[in-house]
Amino acid sequence: MKYRIALIPGDGIGPDVVEQGVIALRAVAERFSRELSFAELPMGGCAIDECGEPLPASTLAACRESDAVLLGAVGGPKWDHLGGKLRPEAGLLGLRAGLGVYANLRPARVFPELAAACPLRPDIIDGGLDILILRELTGGIYFGERGRSPDGESAWDTERYSRAEICHLLERGFEAARGRSGRLCVVDKANVLESSRLWRETAKAMARDWPSVELSFMYVDNCAMQLVANPRQFDVIATSNMFGDILSDEAAMITGSIGMLASASLGDSGPGLYEPIHGSAPDLAGQDRANPLATILSAAMLLRYSLGFEEGARAIEAAVSGALAAGLRCADIARRGDAAGGERIVGTREMGQAVAELIRRG
Ligand code: IPM
Ligand code: MG
Repeated sequence: MKYRIALIPGDGIGPDVVEQGVIALRAVAERFSRELSFAELPMGGCAIDECGEPLPASTLAACRESDAVLLGAVGGPKWDHLGGKLRPEAGLLGLRAGLGVYANLRPARVFPELAAACPLRPDIIDGGLDILILRELTGGIYFGERGRSPDGESAWDTERYSRAEICHLLERGFEAARGRSGRLCVVDKANVLESSRLWRETAKAMARDWPSVELSFMYVDNCAMQLVANPRQFDVIATSNMFGDILSDEAAMITGSIGMLASASLGDSGPGLYEPIHGSAPDLAGQDRANPLATILSAAMLLRYSLGFEEGARAIEAAVSGALAAGLRCADIARRGDAAGGERIVGTREMGQAVAELIRRG
């Protein structure tokens, strides 16, 4: 069976890292004799330049026709002057909504080889860290009504969730927790927000159907603090679109760098969308300096969730561990402080090639 993968390199370092994601996928295809085909599509700032809009209809249609979508990053100062609906980010939001990928899985795992790159005191992550942030991706304040008063002196954005939307996301949360260590923490601001109180009410009602899962609640401000004070208390964190955006950047840094965090965005059917959680870092674009590992690890999630190819996913993850164990580091994950024993700083391409080589060798 031949799988079709849509590629959206996007802007800034997006093309640099997607190139390496593809090299990793080709290495998997070669090793396991699978057929993968790739088609590159414009979205984001480059689509504004080429086609006059951030998400051309042809891009969304081609993504819908594919088995999975691998995306780099979008945005940059060049398009910052544009209004909300015309910005590169609007393309990304349109794509997420257009594919119906409401469940965004952002696993934060500390690779033992990178323990020294974690900015927290060593005893805090002693024994490793493996948490999953499950972010609602197609609702909430990102998609709520927004506007400006006629005089331009006030503006508003709306956080709105239906019970059905919350339920939809939390089903995934309970399911994920059941398959892991059984703890689900719903993060909200229920001491202030009515929408958060609906999240709590919904989660409590659902908990009866998931007796093996231990459900807890935490306010988002406390969670931001707990993530750095004692991150190992968490297993699965389920939260709204905006809180998930913020907390996942924080969790990423605990793993050493935002350049390490992969993500999968899934709907009930249709292709999944896979992207690193980092941005387009325009200052690093095209200089062979970006860390491709978040994208390569997103490609592993693509194999796991959209192609049902667990063995291929594990081959990529093992190769990433192997490259790190061999001492290869992109600049963002190089050891802080003293001279780095046994580490070598490499560029985007060398890291990608090393991972691909390890995948082929098996
Ligand atoms: C992310 C990014 C996006 C988001 C931006 C680029 C719109 O920060 O994927 O986390 O806020 O969702
Ligand atoms: Mg973000």
